[in-house]
Amino acid sequence: MATKTIDLTPRIGSEIQTDVETLLSGKLSGEIRALLEKRGVIAFREINLTDQQQVAFTRTLGTIVEEGQGSITKITMDPTENDKAGYLRGAFFWHIDGTMQDVPVLASIMSARRLSAIGGDTEFCNTYAAYDDLPQQEKAELDKIKVVHTLEATQRYVYPEPTYEMLQGWQRYADNQLPLVWKHRSGRKSLVIGSTASHVAGMDRRASAALLCRLREWATQPQFVYRHRWTVGDLVIWDNTGTMHRALAYPLDSGRMMHRTKLQGEESFA
Ligand SMILES: [Fe+2]
Repeated sequence: MATKTIDLTPRIGSEIQTDVETLLSGKLSGEIRALLEKRGVIAFREINLTDQQQVAFTRTLGTIVEEGQGSITKITMDPTENDKAGYLRGAFFWHIDGTMQDVPVLASIMSARRLSAIGGDTEFCNTYAAYDDLPQQEKAELDKIKVVHTLEATQRYVYPEPTYEMLQGWQRYADNQLPLVWKHRSGRKSLVIGSTASHVAGMDRRASAALLCRLREWATQPQFVYRHRWTVGDLVIWDNTGTMHRALAYPLDSGRMMHRTKLQGEESFA
């Protein structure tokens, strides 16, 4: 089968049509890595990889993160399948994975195993394009700003009225201060915001909340967003360093099941 690449929207998202053998051969890995950085999201529709094939494919692109079972993590809201299901509910809000660390994962690779009858699409926004389109004057101001990320900030979306014990649990994680604008080695710049962004360092509380809210709204405008409507067997990779993502609401007892692998980060935020 000849490999074909199609842009899914003008600013974010491409689809690659190929076959499993070509994908696993690693022949496309250079092209996929370059496309990922440029387009943020790559979808392989109904490619139907097994867990082993997904792990093998992930290894063709970089260093896999060893977590879960055999490097596969089950993404589901079913607590019998994933004991962190409560924590995963933060995924319904725009975020970048790994903002509590200094080197976030490079990319996540997710395949759809079981879907919810309603809801459950995944949205991605291009944080490079969102930065690029800001007015020049504003870019210069934002380049100097630092944002404090906390686990508490993201958990409050899910548990607005936590027990004291829960709050103490969240606060055991150290805050992470990151630049608002990530200057990548490539020379490109992207915004670092999302649900873990608690406040702007050294800024008045209201001004800080207003800035973070306005930038999230800006970055998630339709022209920067690709919405993936899943079919079982789809595989989607996203560049976690140049996008934010969120799952759209679906019933927590729907049995929706995604299998995820990750690529280790290669570049720190700062
Ligand atoms: Fe995520």
